[in-house]
Amino acid sequence: MTAITKQNYRGVYHFSPQAKWMNDPNGMVYFEGEYHLFFQHHPGGMTMGAMHWGHAVSRDLITWEELPIALFPDELGMIFSGSAVVDWNNTTGFFAEKPGLVAIFTHHLDMPEGQPAVQRQSLAYSHDNGRTWTKYEGNPVLEHDTFIDFRDPKVFWNQETNKWVMIVACGQTVCLYHSPDLIHWTFASEFGKGIGSHDGVWECPDLFPLHVDGDPSNIKWVMLVSIGADPAFVEGSRTQYFTGHFDGDVFTPDEDSRTIRWLDYGRDNYAGVSWSDVPEEDGRRLFIGWMSNWMYAPQTPAEEFRGAMTLPRELYLESREGKVLLVQKPAKELEAARIPVLSLKDVTVHEINASLAGLQLDAYEIAVKFTRGISAGIKVRVGAGEETVVGMDAETEELYVDRLASGQNSFHEWFPGRHSVELQAPGEIHELCIYVDRTSVEVFGNGGQAVLTDLIFPKPESAGVAAFAEQEGTPFLSLEVYKLALPAANGDDRQVEG
Ligand code: FRU
Repeated sequence: MTAITKQNYRGVYHFSPQAKWMNDPNGMVYFEGEYHLFFQHHPGGMTMGAMHWGHAVSRDLITWEELPIALFPDELGMIFSGSAVVDWNNTTGFFAEKPGLVAIFTHHLDMPEGQPAVQRQSLAYSHDNGRTWTKYEGNPVLEHDTFIDFRDPKVFWNQETNKWVMIVACGQTVCLYHSPDLIHWTFASEFGKGIGSHDGVWECPDLFPLHVDGDPSNIKWVMLVSIGADPAFVEGSRTQYFTGHFDGDVFTPDEDSRTIRWLDYGRDNYAGVSWSDVPEEDGRRLFIGWMSNWMYAPQTPAEEFRGAMTLPRELYLESREGKVLLVQKPAKELEAARIPVLSLKDVTVHEINASLAGLQLDAYEIAVKFTRGISAGIKVRVGAGEETVVGMDAETEELYVDRLASGQNSFHEWFPGRHSVELQAPGEIHELCIYVDRTSVEVFGNGGQAVLTDLIFPKPESAGVAAFAEQEGTPFLSLEVYKLALPAANGDDRQVEG
């Protein structure tokens, strides 16, 4: 057992930068065996500042290697969020020899006092798998005369029209453009007036097709739109989604999409988008989000660095009770990090707790099944006066995470709280998969139908875990516990032993 000497905010199996500030994931693209994860990075400070693109790569979506900074601010401004693609057919003319990566990002230029900043879209390209980049000499490639907020381009190749498509946030709507070469862009349509949540500025959109219930003949398009924090709303920044039809120019939302739907009902999954160019034979739509909230992000407890990403997740569309829902599951690669700790079947809460007593875990996964209609759940990161409660409330049929006593929480008045979402049971059983790390809890209810992602800041020694239910004798159908352990790739190999 390794002694714990100080607070440690670095997750064991979540990506965080070696040093300083990080926010949105950027430029996520798969190329030649590597998942690239660029990120909004201020290498000179612990809060947002002169934004760069940091860079990390992974071959397995679990271990991340941080590489030197990819994109630095220049005379056109800071490097805000954006995407990256593989230019397989050399549409840009940048890749005479072999295909390479193009980053499409926002240049954000601060103007003298009293004038709004200018946001324009620019390109950079790389011939060496994202290790070094050349900014396109004709930058910016897209500007707008009226939108002050005009940012976060997400680009993909549309096979039907043989054109690139860009979705970009424009104040409180998104605009769609298309291009033959990533350089010349033509406006196609605007979406968002009078629909969805307008509780804040729209940011970091994404647009992609998914099969409904895995049926290749039933395709719907999914639009993700992140909404910035506004002091009037206790939820802070969050991400909504729409489903609908996309004809290459115009996105038409489904009837379902007229009611607001959130991607995540916790507080800490923001600005997430999906990976480009995941090979067709893999076929997954993989997603990662920034695990924080603009409401309090600059104030969260931190030492050398501040910011982490969510687990990488796979997105699906599933129809449940006549509605098509966006469902998230942890990327299957996570299973390789499991070290089995406990597996119980048909046990009472009392029996579970006898087995859990004495376990000290800080980075782990718990899968639990119990009958619908009972209020029950799991308490994680339990210690003197600290606990984070994940459970089902039978009366309201709500899945919740309660972080009121989760640890340090006085840095923002709205950080402490209980977050919940209605969870329908497909049958008579509720199944919760809970991923716990040193500063986070991610809960996937009933196969990812409802998800809550929340930061927590417990003491390192608050490493207990316990089940609870209305009555001590309540039976659970099953409970599995896995420690999640990785090679020392995330800058720290310290683990609390059980
Ligand atoms: C979202 C965001 C983006 C912007 C970036 C700046 O969190 O505000 O809209 O490009 O962060 O870091």
